[in-house]
Amino acid sequence: MTPEIKHTGLKTWISEVVKLTEPDKVIVCDGSESEYQSLCLELVQAGTFVRLNPKHRPNSFLARSDASDVARVEDRTFVCTTQRDDAGPNNNWMEPAKMKETVYALMQGSMRGRTLYVIPFSMGPVGSPLSQIGVELTDSAYVVVNMRIMTRIGTPVLDALGTDGKYVKCIHTVGAPLSPSQKDVPWPCNPTVKYISHFPEENLILSYGSGYGGNALLGKKCFALRLGSTMGRDEGWLAEHMLILGAESPRGEKKYIAAAFPSACGKTNFAMLIPPKTMRGWKITTVGDDIAWIRPDKDGVLRAINPEAGFFGVAPGTSLRTNQNAVKTISANTIFTNVALTPDGDVWWEGLSDTPPEGLIDWTGKPWTAASGQKAAHPNARFTAPARQCPSIDPLWESPEGVPISAFIFGGRRATTVPLITETRDWTHGVYWAATIGSETTAAAIGATGQVRRDPFAMLPFCGYHMGDYFQHWLDIGKAVIACGAKLPPIFGVNWFRRENGSGPFIWPGYGDNARILDWILRRVDGVVDAVESPLGLHPRYESVEWAGADVSPEKFTEMLRVDPAEWSTEIQAQGEFFATLGDRLPAEFRQIHGRLGRAFGAPSSSAGLETGV
Ligand code: GTP
Ligand code: SPV
Ligand code: MN
Repeated sequence: MTPEIKHTGLKTWISEVVKLTEPDKVIVCDGSESEYQSLCLELVQAGTFVRLNPKHRPNSFLARSDASDVARVEDRTFVCTTQRDDAGPNNNWMEPAKMKETVYALMQGSMRGRTLYVIPFSMGPVGSPLSQIGVELTDSAYVVVNMRIMTRIGTPVLDALGTDGKYVKCIHTVGAPLSPSQKDVPWPCNPTVKYISHFPEENLILSYGSGYGGNALLGKKCFALRLGSTMGRDEGWLAEHMLILGAESPRGEKKYIAAAFPSACGKTNFAMLIPPKTMRGWKITTVGDDIAWIRPDKDGVLRAINPEAGFFGVAPGTSLRTNQNAVKTISANTIFTNVALTPDGDVWWEGLSDTPPEGLIDWTGKPWTAASGQKAAHPNARFTAPARQCPSIDPLWESPEGVPISAFIFGGRRATTVPLITETRDWTHGVYWAATIGSETTAAAIGATGQVRRDPFAMLPFCGYHMGDYFQHWLDIGKAVIACGAKLPPIFGVNWFRRENGSGPFIWPGYGDNARILDWILRRVDGVVDAVESPLGLHPRYESVEWAGADVSPEKFTEMLRVDPAEWSTEIQAQGEFFATLGDRLPAEFRQIHGRLGRAFGAPSSSAGLETGV
């Protein structure tokens, strides 16, 4: 049954957008299972979806995107603030009026021949004080079915919105209107014109031309991170690119940890981690794998919710060995995008098994052989699966008040330089560490991969305002927690991706073995183990790590923790160059730490001229 919209403001806005985009039909989504099923059937008929063999993957589908539309488009992503400086050097900027003029002109008649779907959605459990509502108007049924997995949608959200509730306006169009006689393509999009634009001053998102992931599922990066971070700055909370996990130790204690790694750098894996069998008594549970909204409660405890309801996870590399929980999560009711298809109607991707099955169809829809030298699945191929299907899902994952965070972890993908694990000295030093993370770029965004860039807090593509102000906001949250008389969670830095001699195999086994590092972190939180000093911070002693069942020699471990003065001299210089781009919005504390590190490693004092007044 079509849900009734009682919100007059929403009704008016929908009619304005209908007038602008001229869709053939308007459907208000109720979020029901039957609506989902009929949209999936339509997508199969349109050739967008291939229904997978229900014997292998019940109620699951494969979508193949256009080759031009396979990942986020950072160079087409804009933050439109009145003052250019408020968007910061970390965002592309255009004047709000000019951007609206540009995108609304493109949107004129852009839904002709298509259906406009109204998706009321809640980021966070419906009704939680930490949740927020959005309404996405889209001409993509693929977006609707993905949003139904990734967020809570439909009638309950409209009810929560009431007659005058606050919501974020999200307009999305694939930018491919159809003339009356025109046959549709399986993946409509605009191959040449794309705008992913954000208006934080009026809680508006306009997305044109792409149907893929973070460009189109507007609750995710656009709302929960880019607009969310700005709301958090104004209201005293944090919107972060973080997984949240629960860790139950053999000592019977349970603690929650939040960890930020850049895109395609191991958040899903870490969130669903299964400790090695030899680490008996450990249990890891999953609250979220991509986004955390974190707020100090009245006692100053930092409480986190996962605003999402599903996982939009990287498929390649996911296997029973690397992530058994993910493999089980995606066994049914899952949408796969840009993976390979097996002859018996199942999915495959690089890393799922050592030997590819015979007779694969690749992500472009063509027969594939290993001899082709091409990948069968796109490196940014994804699965969309309901979080509730995850065997390790935490009992409190939908708790309206969120879970208390006991430690933060920040990581990047670095073949060299950065040690396996470092504990920072205090909140300010931890914020500095997170602010200076470098990481090799991955297939999660269009562009060259494997290049080291600064990706502060793993938020470079997602921070909706000036990065310098964002650092200051983190320092201010620290002060707010202290003012409540609460203790600040310690902050750790990790790097699972260091390679032998910089380009050989990974030194650290990773995956399940990351539990050994997590165990040390939790014992540091409890204050029951000591640590070794280095100019960077604190590192574990070999003897302090749980090694049962592992094959890591003390020499290997020393290599993983090695702090090379020459590498660090270069690193400190790179940090300085990055800081220089932030101008006078860089927190003063950072200049001091940067100066201290520079002296410790003999970095040239000219490194960005930051050493003033230290
Ligand atoms: P987004 O969804 O893009 O934000 O990324 P994510 O951080 O959730 O990415 P995901 O966990 O899916 O990362 C996938 C990539 O990280 C794959 O290439 C994995 O093989 C690799 N990976 C994950 N954990 C580890 C690890 O512990 N060690 C190593 N070497 N690689 C890992
Ligand atoms: C990321 O790139 O960090 C993702 C995937 O989580 S997307 O939603 O497409 O941005
Ligand atoms: Mn992400």
